[in-house]
Amino acid sequence: MSPVPTTALRWALVLFVLFVAPALVGPRGHQDPEDPTAPWPRRGDYTGPQRCAECHQQRERELKRGHHGGLLDAGLDGCEICHGPGQGHADDEDTAPERITHPHKLGPAASIALCRSCHAEVDPKDFHWRDRHKPLLSVGMTCTTCHLIHADRTIAPPKPEELARATNRSCTSCHATAMCVLPGTVHEDLGRLDGPLATGCAICHDGALHHAISPGSKHLLESMHASPAAVQYAVCTRCHGAEDKLAHVRSGSHHRHEVGCLQCHSPAVERGRVRADAEKKCAACHADIQAQFALPHHHPVPEGRMGCTDCHEVHGARPRLRDHALTEGACVRCHPQTRSPFPFNAHQTGRQEGCVTCHLPHGASNRRLLAETTAQQNCLQCHGDFPAFHDQTQGAVYTDCLRCHTQIHGSNHDRFYFR
Ligand code: HEC
Ligand code: HEC
Ligand code: HEC
Ligand code: HEC
Ligand code: HEC
Ligand code: HEC
Ligand code: HEC
Ligand code: HEC
Ligand code: HEC
Ligand code: HEC
Ligand code: HEC
Ligand code: HEC
Ligand code: HEC
Ligand code: HEC
Repeated sequence: MSPVPTTALRWALVLFVLFVAPALVGPRGHQDPEDPTAPWPRRGDYTGPQRCAECHQQRERELKRGHHGGLLDAGLDGCEICHGPGQGHADDEDTAPERITHPHKLGPAASIALCRSCHAEVDPKDFHWRDRHKPLLSVGMTCTTCHLIHADRTIAPPKPEELARATNRSCTSCHATAMCVLPGTVHEDLGRLDGPLATGCAICHDGALHHAISPGSKHLLESMHASPAAVQYAVCTRCHGAEDKLAHVRSGSHHRHEVGCLQCHSPAVERGRVRADAEKKCAACHADIQAQFALPHHHPVPEGRMGCTDCHEVHGARPRLRDHALTEGACVRCHPQTRSPFPFNAHQTGRQEGCVTCHLPHGASNRRLLAETTAQQNCLQCHGDFPAFHDQTQGAVYTDCLRCHTQIHGSNHDRFYFR
């Protein structure tokens, strides 16, 4: 489901909880406050979030840092949506803790019911893993075993020696399914259950151990979701920095246009599929180029006989588009019969913009990937200088230039490119 309807649905639920549900449950107030550990929703008198914030500023700030800050603006009951009616608590400091709901004091069933009153889509027993590969969830878990509602920034970061000792197992209590992602992929070694965390999950997810002991606080963690290209570069080159291929990434046109490693690579790519997977992504951003490969004459990329990276070096600054290493060097690797040095090579290197002077590299409507419909049109772009006996009236033999000048890429025998 797209995030828009989900959000709308949640807010609809919030309104339901605020205005409709209370009417169904019965009128508020004028009752003895029930036991704070009674199943949610409880009854009693409400006092409003401003009142709560007078004494609990810190919790209010923390709430705003989490996902639920919006509830404070949504209506009068902000804090009390979760903590239950709080007037009795606010009025009587002596008995304060006993007269308010602390979700941790609720039994698992009531605590889960509280969260599910707005998040009904999450299963009460299997949580997010009802239909998927199930992790080994411990008995008695509730939503707040994993989720923190008030995001506390004061939790001390782990000590270096704790990080040094920790293994990837630190993540399993809440992310058992994530442990199944890396086995069988290029990064298999980083995901081993008893492998060191510092060079495992945490090398890509900065702050992971801090996040794990917080517990589950999102803001302490680098999630790598849609992270900027510079962050991706920094993380991935912790290990891949020494590879020659990546030496010029940062001056390359992809990096400079915010196309980071993860736009082309999944960290969970199967071995042997790195290139194929990455090349599948090109079309999404280069639809215009993709379309050129649909023309009747094209390099056999759609057929899978070659790929974009046979010609393009996507990581580097070089070769740039006008670089001979691309416009000619790449071509003669596969078409060696056109490779200079020919003694007679006027059409070759240095004097032209490479092979693409006459050929379209991706695809063309014309045979031989020529930019012009006929060879004649192609030749006449540059050659007004042909000898006078070259009769150019329509149908004349001298209009078919390639009939005589056959060795158009260069000749070993003849400066006029005759055979
Ligand atoms: C007059 C000050 C005051 C006001 C107003 C107030 N509280 Fe409290 N609250 C306290 C004190 C004191 C405690 C006990 C010490 C602590 O845990 O910080 C407490 C504890 C709590 C606890 C922890 C209970 C437990 O079992 O440990 C929660 C939850 C809570 N308050 C929520 C609220 C909510 C929600 C509101 C608004 C409806 C509110 N408070 C308004 C003073 C106040
Ligand atoms: C979406 C539900 C929700 C809302 C809204 C909410 N809380 Fe909480 N509150 C919790 C949960 C769950 C806990 C248990 C600790 C946690 O998950 O952060 C908690 C814990 C607390 C505690 C006790 C912390 C401790 O030391 O154990 C206080 C105090 C508190 N909340 C106050 C407030 C105040 C004040 C507001 C409004 C500004 C508020 N809460 C709004 C769910 C909520
Ligand atoms: C009164 C309704 C309400 C209650 C009760 C409630 N939530 Fe939420 N929750 C929301 C809303 C609204 C959002 C924000 C949705 C959004 O921005 O897409 C949200 C967001 C979240 C998110 C982040 C969602 C995301 O898309 O990243 C989590 C996680 C979450 N809630 C967990 C809980 C837990 C755990 C509890 C029980 C302690 C709880 N909620 C109780 C209304 C509620
Ligand atoms: C075992 C740990 C765990 C438990 C228990 C758990 N969650 Fe989650 N929840 C997560 C993790 C991890 C994510 C983030 C998933 C991700 O980013 O892929 C998440 C994501 C969410 C989201 C964001 C939207 C989504 O579905 O991805 C909501 C809302 C949410 N949880 C609510 C709940 C509620 C309500 C409960 C209790 C019924 C609950 N969770 C129980 C770990 C847990
Ligand atoms: C106590 C439970 C818990 C532990 C332990 C835990 N996480 Fe999380 N993690 C969560 C929850 C809950 C979320 C969802 C946070 C949210 O949406 O608010 C989450 C989210 C994430 C995300 C995704 C964030 C996103 O944007 O979707 C990553 C990545 C992550 N955790 C990595 C780790 C790693 C690595 C470890 C081990 C060092 C770890 N976590 C340990 C509970 C936990
Ligand atoms: C090689 C780097 C790398 C390693 C190692 C790594 N991750 Fe991730 N992880 C990522 C990236 C990148 C994403 C974001 C993927 C995306 O946005 O599609 C991610 C996403 C996640 C998510 C969110 C998944 C979701 O569906 O949104 C969780 C949870 C997570 N990782 C946990 C872990 C755990 C646990 C480990 C260790 C077993 C681990 N990661 C190891 C790079 C890594
Ligand atoms: C902890 C070090 C480490 C980090 C960080 C890391 N990798 Fe790797 N990566 C490896 C190792 C080890 C291999 C496996 C090399 C092998 O088996 O030849 C690998 C393999 C790869 C491969 C396949 C290489 C090949 O030759 O087939 C790609 C692509 C890749 N990683 C991309 C990434 C991306 C993108 C990131 C950032 C999200 C990243 N890596 C972060 C260590 C790391
Ligand atoms: C525009 C897409 C794209 C981007 C962005 C990209 N790559 Fe690649 N990457 C590829 C393709 C395609 C291949 C396979 C062909 C090749 O080796 O050139 C590849 C291959 C690799 C390999 C294997 C190299 C080898 O020797 O076999 C590694 C490692 C790698 N990329 C890492 C990264 C890292 C790290 C980043 C970010 C700094 C990154 N890539 C950015 C498309 C991309
Ligand atoms: C996320 C979008 C995205 C993906 C995926 C992507 N590119 Fe690009 N590419 C860009 C942007 C943006 C530019 C720079 C602006 C431009 O020239 O259009 C660019 C530029 C280029 C250029 C021109 C380079 C130069 O030096 O100016 C080539 C060639 C190229 N991409 C090839 C590829 C190939 C091959 C792939 C697949 C392996 C790929 N791109 C994947 C967005 C993308
Ligand atoms: C046969 C070699 C070859 C193949 C295969 C190839 N390209 Fe190119 N591409 C080139 C050459 C040569 C140029 C420079 C054209 C020029 O300078 O006129 C170019 C130019 C580009 C440009 C820049 C176009 C512009 O007008 O700015 C992009 C983007 C591009 N290619 C993407 C791709 C993508 C994506 C693929 C795979 C679907 C691909 N190329 C396959 C040789 C190739
Ligand atoms: C990875 C190898 C490779 C590279 C690099 C390459 N080509 Fe090709 N080229 C091919 C293949 C394969 C064909 C299709 C031959 C066939 O279908 O029989 C082809 C076909 C052609 C044709 C049409 C030939 C005909 O018989 O119709 C021309 C012209 C051509 N390439 C020019 C170029 C140019 C110009 C470049 C550099 C921009 C280039 N090629 C780079 C492999 C390559
Ligand atoms: C001055 C224009 C021109 C330049 C520059 C040029 N070609 Fe050609 N090329 C042609 C013409 C015209 C044909 C058609 C020949 C025919 O139909 O017999 C052709 C045919 C081809 C063919 C298919 C026939 C064959 O000889 O196999 C390939 C492959 C080819 N060129 C590759 C290249 C490469 C690679 C380069 C760069 C080194 C290049 N061309 C530079 C004009 C040019
Ligand atoms: C992009 C421009 C360009 C195109 C298109 C082109 N040529 Fe040329 N051609 C040249 C240049 C430049 C020379 C070298 C002239 C010189 O050295 O005086 C040359 C030289 C020649 C020569 C040798 C002349 C001499 O005096 O050495 C012949 C023959 C020739 N071209 C035929 C053709 C034919 C036939 C075509 C069409 C298939 C063609 N050319 C397409 C630019 C072009
Ligand atoms: C019937 C054979 C034939 C055809 C067809 C033909 N030529 Fe020629 N071309 C020649 C001959 C013969 C010469 C002169 C060789 C000499 O001077 O010894 C020549 C010379 C040239 C020269 C070199 C002029 C100079 O003196 O530097 C150019 C350029 C040229 N032709 C271009 C073309 C073009 C363009 C076409 C097509 C429009 C074409 N030719 C068609 C036979 C042909």
